[in-house]
Amino acid sequence: MLTVPPQLAPEFETLSKEIDALLKTHGRGRDALIPVLQDLRERHNEISDLAMQIVGDRLRVPAVEVQGVATFYSFLGTDATGQHVIHLCRTLSCDMAGAKSIAKTLSKELGIKFGETTEDGQFTLKWSNCIGMCDQAPAALVNREAVGNLTPERVKEIIAGLRAKDAKK
Ligand code: FES
Repeated sequence: MLTVPPQLAPEFETLSKEIDALLKTHGRGRDALIPVLQDLRERHNEISDLAMQIVGDRLRVPAVEVQGVATFYSFLGTDATGQHVIHLCRTLSCDMAGAKSIAKTLSKELGIKFGETTEDGQFTLKWSNCIGMCDQAPAALVNREAVGNLTPERVKEIIAGLRAKDAKK
């Protein structure tokens, strides 16, 4: 049974309840690890150390292994991100198909470099390795959705679409 210092007790209790509910959906096998981490990332825009410890405890997977999985997959990652995360592929096919000009457009539109988050906490730009969309290069993951055949115009539309959606909330 996992124990935490008293100052973390309220957070621990809330997160434990949330993770237990997620495990009801995804099951308690090791194959639940990635879906649970994905859900946590989507809900909190980060995967905290405490969350990884609780997930490890519940799935009987060492916390260090949970961290290894979270940091291995670029669409997971433990660091805090904006609400929307755009992973642009920079592997060969995408690079040759113009990923650099897509990156330039993204940076210009959002006013940030890759690896950064906009001041309003809405967008994070990250590089990714091949996401399996080489036939539609250049490609990116926009949140969890794979988007291919990117052009600077398409990128502007995607960002405008996400901003419009946020404005409605
Ligand atoms: S090289 Fe970019 S998706 Fe495969």
